[in-house]
Amino acid sequence: MSHKVTLIPGDGIGPEITEATVRVIEAAGVDIEWDRQEAGIPALKEHGETVPNQLLDSIRENKVALKGPLTTLVGKGFRSANVQLRQKLDLYANLRPVKSIGGVPSRYDKVDLVIVRENTEDLYSGIENLISPGVTQAIKVVTERASYLITRWAFEYARRHNRKKITLVHKANIMKVSDGLFLRIFEEVARDYPDITAEDKIVDALCMRLVMDPSEFDVLLLGNLFGDIVSDLAAGLVGGLGVVPGANIGDEYAIFEAVHGSAPDIAGKNLANPTALIFSALLMLRHLGEHDAADRIWKSIVVTLAIGHHLTRDLGGTCSTTEFTDALVKEIQSRS
Ligand code: NAI
Repeated sequence: MSHKVTLIPGDGIGPEITEATVRVIEAAGVDIEWDRQEAGIPALKEHGETVPNQLLDSIRENKVALKGPLTTLVGKGFRSANVQLRQKLDLYANLRPVKSIGGVPSRYDKVDLVIVRENTEDLYSGIENLISPGVTQAIKVVTERASYLITRWAFEYARRHNRKKITLVHKANIMKVSDGLFLRIFEEVARDYPDITAEDKIVDALCMRLVMDPSEFDVLLLGNLFGDIVSDLAAGLVGGLGVVPGANIGDEYAIFEAVHGSAPDIAGKNLANPTALIFSALLMLRHLGEHDAADRIWKSIVVTLAIGHHLTRDLGGTCSTTEFTDALVKEIQSRS
């Protein structure tokens, strides 16, 4: 079966790792027609805006996109194109599976967590004001609708994937109204899922527990900001940002992308590890029903990493992006 997918190469290391990912998918024999579209800084240069209409039209038509990272300037410049995409397409669920992989040097060897992050509101609302010189405020928006949607999505995901426990992570002791609302809705929705254990933890305590013993947790449900921070912490438990995938999912559309950013420190040097984006592409292939190809790529990555002759620098090796991808493609082809 043939698929049409929007491909957003992004910037920084984005073009290098998306190219590697496309090669890997082709090697597995999946027939995809890629509709290449720019976003972020490259789109600003070409179209005068960071999220052009033709990009949104492409995703609305194809329903699925694979995306490289996009740089967002710190403390100045345009509003994050990532945040805009998630809000405009109502991609309210951000799924980030965090799993130990043999061969990847890491602090723990049996981590199997799923992070579900609310993706459309919270402190990412973009509402910030200068009240008077030297006095600022940022608004944390938490609505009943978004809290309900993400909580229901997390429980449905847990049930479909045979997960046993969901931990809501919040700061309702301090943000009694906003996080308090999220917690109340979580407790309400949890009653419909007696087969899944529901618990809640305050975010600071959760971070400590997660570092001490990640096996205590199964699915973590978080608001947008805590989800962003705890995802990177969790990536650090299994070998770093180079190996953790992600997906932004709504009722109609889905954008698959790694957890990491555009890594300007190594961009254009053929040093980036494409594994996180390839794992994100596996989530995409499963979403498209291409389970055989996804299984074959998964096994090939696991073998390539376990043999350890072709590791990128972030995993302690000396290989370039291209050398790693060549080895992986060869492994996939040997299984065809
Ligand atoms: P980052 O994730 O880009 O990099 C953090 C560190 O991890 C760097 O040392 C980098 O070299 C390393 N790293 C990240 N991905 C890697 C990979 N695939 N292979 C090897 N090493 C890798 O985070 P940073 O530096 O905070 O952000 C850079 C830019 O990316 C910012 O403009 C930020 O806004 C943007 N960003 C974009 C995201 C997206 O498009 N979804 C997500 C996170 C950040």
